[in-house]
Amino acid sequence: SHADIGLIGLAVMGSNLALNIAEKGHTIAVHNRTASRIDDFVAMAGPLAERVVPKADLAEFIASIRRPRSIIIMVKAGKPVDEMIEQLLPYLEEGDAIIECGNSLYTDTDRRFAYLQGKGIGYLGVGVSGGEEGARHGPSIMVGGAKAQWHNAEPVLKAIAAKFKGEPCCAYLGEGGAGHFVKTIHNGIEYGDMQMIAEVYGFMRDGLGMKPAECAEVFRKWNEGPLNSYLIEITGHVLDAVDPESGTALVELILDKAGQKGTGRWSAIVAQELAVPATTIEGAVAARSISAMKDERLEAEKLYGARRGAEISLSLDTLEKALLAGKIAAYAQGFAVMAKASEEKGWNLPLGTVAKIWRAGCIIRSRFLDQMSAAYEGGPARNLLLVPDFVELMKANHGALREVVAAGAHGEFPLPCLGAALSYFDAYRQGLGTANLIQGQRDFFGAHGFERSDKDGVHHGDWPATIQVEAAEPQV
Ligand code: 6PG
Repeated sequence: SHADIGLIGLAVMGSNLALNIAEKGHTIAVHNRTASRIDDFVAMAGPLAERVVPKADLAEFIASIRRPRSIIIMVKAGKPVDEMIEQLLPYLEEGDAIIECGNSLYTDTDRRFAYLQGKGIGYLGVGVSGGEEGARHGPSIMVGGAKAQWHNAEPVLKAIAAKFKGEPCCAYLGEGGAGHFVKTIHNGIEYGDMQMIAEVYGFMRDGLGMKPAECAEVFRKWNEGPLNSYLIEITGHVLDAVDPESGTALVELILDKAGQKGTGRWSAIVAQELAVPATTIEGAVAARSISAMKDERLEAEKLYGARRGAEISLSLDTLEKALLAGKIAAYAQGFAVMAKASEEKGWNLPLGTVAKIWRAGCIIRSRFLDQMSAAYEGGPARNLLLVPDFVELMKANHGALREVVAAGAHGEFPLPCLGAALSYFDAYRQGLGTANLIQGQRDFFGAHGFERSDKDGVHHGDWPATIQVEAAEPQV
């Protein structure tokens, strides 16, 4: 008999997904370029090996899968995916599908989807979130691509997905790169959540003089309230860990230079491309980049002097509320980017469903997302800052965010995310902004025209001529 599904790429994520599939009762054919990995995998599978069909030969691997075939590929994003597609193509038959589960750039997925559609082969670009643990025991699965072939793979993907109150966190979201696009925004939001937590930790460490274990205690407590989430939970664990060699809190030994593999940056780039303000996500990406400039930061610190260590009188309660308000702004931005992309790309992204399948399995899973999915149910996907339940939450918490940002400015704490969240909120909530002046300036130097509040049409000002004067001597 044939395997239900195939999987190529037995590195950490691939192996864990394959074990998850076998555990849920499906037979799975596995293949890997380096054949020794296949043997290692079978050995590791233990009793699950009875549902594993190991195939070192690619032709035999393909032949061992039930038709129409669903073949998961879990290789490094970028060129390796294109190479794998080319290798598979000669063996595939009409109706078969490649299911690519890496962190791919959604435009690559769009391109591959169109390319394979022309050959009668289905392509599903699938975002899988939840790290190793998730892959093994239940990730959140964001599917995009060929709808016909989605139905073929659906039982397996839903079986392995995380469950939220019994509902699988797996859904088909739209054609082409829709799944990978949503995963990219997930990661942008993930960056924002992580950075805002780090900013709050900065106040605890440098403003309130708290030790890591004391901070951990606070995060544990917060995890029982409205901030309840995976990231808050693991933050507690990270802060609690002790280096066995030195007995020092591990977090104090970890270098303050953040890595990034690109998905967060892509989400900021696409937000800019779509002209959707996503300043909190952008702030998080920038914060990682500036963190990496350790040497320059040390040099600048010598020039400007260390932080004054101003006394901070923020309460932990205020910090908790500020984090919640910042989170609302960040999610409002992320979802607004998805709404706009959906419109431009014709994806029809079901944003309520996106919130639902993020309730469990993924890195940003939280109580907050349960509230969001409930708020989105049925209604049109408007900016979160306009959704009634969240209006109430924001009203109750933006004062705290304001207090924290003000304290940060006075105390010399960088707040690229919380600060951006507050500015976004204040700009979004104000009927009268200051772009009238921008429009005046644009018309002054470039005759770009402006609209008026008292008349229809496009207008120009009768601006005075400016004469080029010689640059004045700089005054020191
Ligand atoms: C997930 C994570 C996962 C991974 C990213 C993070 O949803 O499971 O987002 O995809 O952790 O690669 O990327 P950075 O390395 O850029 O932090």
